[in-house]
Amino acid sequence: MANDLHTGFDETLYPYINKGLDGVVAFSTTKSSIDGQNGELIYTGFNIDVLAEKSTFEEVCFLLWNDRLPTQNELDDLTHKFQDRRDIPKVVVDYLHSVDKESKPMSVLRTATSMLSETDIHLPDDSYYEKAINITAKLPTIIAAFSRLRSGKEIVQPKATGSTAFNFLYMLNGEEPGIQAEKTLDLCLILHAEHGMNASTFTCRTVGGTLSDLYSAVTAAIGTLKGPLHGGANTAVMQMLMELEEQGKDADAVAFTKDKLAKKEKIMGFGHRVYKTFDPRARHLQKMAQSLSEETGHEELYRWSMDMLNTMKNEKNIDPNVDFFSATVYFSMGIQPDLYTCIFTMSRIAGWAGHYMEQMEHNRLVRPRALYVGEKNMDYTPIEER
Ligand code: SDX
Repeated sequence: MANDLHTGFDETLYPYINKGLDGVVAFSTTKSSIDGQNGELIYTGFNIDVLAEKSTFEEVCFLLWNDRLPTQNELDDLTHKFQDRRDIPKVVVDYLHSVDKESKPMSVLRTATSMLSETDIHLPDDSYYEKAINITAKLPTIIAAFSRLRSGKEIVQPKATGSTAFNFLYMLNGEEPGIQAEKTLDLCLILHAEHGMNASTFTCRTVGGTLSDLYSAVTAAIGTLKGPLHGGANTAVMQMLMELEEQGKDADAVAFTKDKLAKKEKIMGFGHRVYKTFDPRARHLQKMAQSLSEETGHEELYRWSMDMLNTMKNEKNIDPNVDFFSATVYFSMGIQPDLYTCIFTMSRIAGWAGHYMEQMEHNRLVRPRALYVGEKNMDYTPIEER
């Protein structure tokens, strides 16, 4: 098989390199199944559309960590554990007070998450489940606390009751959210919780594969998700929509999109390595984006989004992914754009922890090969002769 790399190596010795591991199956998993041709997403047996309608983020955490739905008692037990463990340690609070207010929220979250490991030094190394609960409970608190401190506001302590969605909005805004806002965020957390072997989950499993700890795996995964080609895209989508906003409510999103394409720029929130059709998660987010943008007087955001969507389909036959409409949803909820990837993080911890635990169940070190294409056995020229 010919390839686009240097000649000079024996092709029969090395398989064709799949750039970006495109199409490479690295693990077997029960956590999720993605049918990219038909736009189907399954979390441990359950279609995302069913979970979106009937489940909660807490129940999805249990599902991904136990490969089955919980009984009421089991769900209550996990919910209470989340509620009891939302507080963050003084070492993290002090960091959040001291860190530069201009720091990027995802950078702060990455560092603070790593510091959380201090809270579990007395737990046995294999207490993966307890650590998963601890991290999942504390991420929302860290995000909300930094957001308030950088705005010159006091930290709001979590309530001893309420869901993850409820408490995040309460800690972020300093007032109890309405049931609609809580349900909207809970649905977003369900939709972002798990997605097979995406880049950050692959990172998480690679770190777990060395038998390193869950905090190291999650910290590395956060750094991976931060990139604009992955979880950082939702913030980038909002930045695009804000560019249009600056042109006024009658801005031409079709021309805007075509201009970017002509410059060979990527349109954030579109395209996917696996989905070659509409991302099933985007359908739910699209509905929310339409209703919320109209309710909050920002219907132009949805209009522009649809113009971009139709232009991308017509020009490149590319569909939106999970990040496209989530930007409008979060904006309509009054959340600051540079927090959107943090919200992605406080959801995806469910999938990362599930994959980490699965890796530990039947581990093998993750160690692919690389094809060396440099020179070999060159003469070493003394420095005075170079
Ligand atoms: C997430 O993997 C996951 O599951 C991730 C995720 C999850 O839940 O974990 O679903 C979450 O990360 C969603 C993706 C968020 N990223 C973005 O929205 C960034 C914009 N998207 C692109 O960068 C791109 O679509 C990727 C990175 C998502 C996927 O890229 P691939 O599979 O490497 O495909 P590619 O870049 O090789 O593109 C193939 C062609 C190219 O055209 P040609 O050069 O062959 O002519 O499609 C074009 C690309 O230029 N293309 C785009 C485009 N995406 C692909 N052109 C314009 N805008 C885009 N967004």
